Amino acid sequence: MILTKIREKTMVYHDDFTGWANKILDGTANHDEYKNVLKRFYGFYQPLENKISSLEDWSSNDFNLKNRDKSAFLLEDMKYLNISDQEISALEVCDQSQLPDINNMAQALGCMYVLEGATLGGQIVSKKLNEIFGFEQGKGSSFFNSYGTNVRPMWKEFGDFINNYSEKNKDNDNEIVNSSDQTYHKFNNWLSVLR
Ligand code: HEM
Repeated sequence: MILTKIREKTMVYHDDFTGWANKILDGTANHDEYKNVLKRFYGFYQPLENKISSLEDWSSNDFNLKNRDKSAFLLEDMKYLNISDQEISALEVCDQSQLPDINNMAQALGCMYVLEGATLGGQIVSKKLNEIFGFEQGKGSSFFNSYGTNVRPMWKEFGDFINNYSEKNKDNDNEIVNSSDQTYHKFNNWLSVLR
């Protein structure tokens, strides 16, 4: 199964990668530090989600990409924390060289594995954010809360879609795995300023 193949190659990066979250997880992050996390995440997710959605007409397959838009949650959270529209539009975002290559479905799915997998750990992060900052009803932590109680079913739906794609396109497994690998690396590089 493709998910197992991706895990085998990339799980080793996961823990190194979560350094930016340490201060949230140990409860010592302040508002400014959290705002910096949101701004930096937006700089990666916004152009990357655009790139994925413009790859092809997603409405022509049975996968609903639209309801996985996580830049919208980042915008909501930044606005809730009083980051002005002006500041948001001036934020540094990734250029093409800082983003993973998304030239075909195999690369898109390998990349999305990382973005969708992040919603699993995100549940732990959002719980902690609500404890630290006293956000009520998840306002301010909607990005990390993402699909809320639907996180598991959404992960399962993504898993079924990627497995199905891989079954039908056996020769593309390496490209999928390489794309997950590249996404972890590009994301990690981009977030390194937070550490
Ligand atoms: C944006 C940052 C993150 C990314 C890109 C990411 C990526 C991933 C991926 C791809 C998976 C799925 C692994 C698999 O089943 O194949 C996963 C699972 C998981 N992540 Fe993260 N992660 C992120 C943040 C975090 C943080 C900060 C934590 C620590 C609290 C964390 C804890 C976990 C846990 C516990 C799982 C397993 C969830 C489960 O299956 O029950 N993640 N993550």
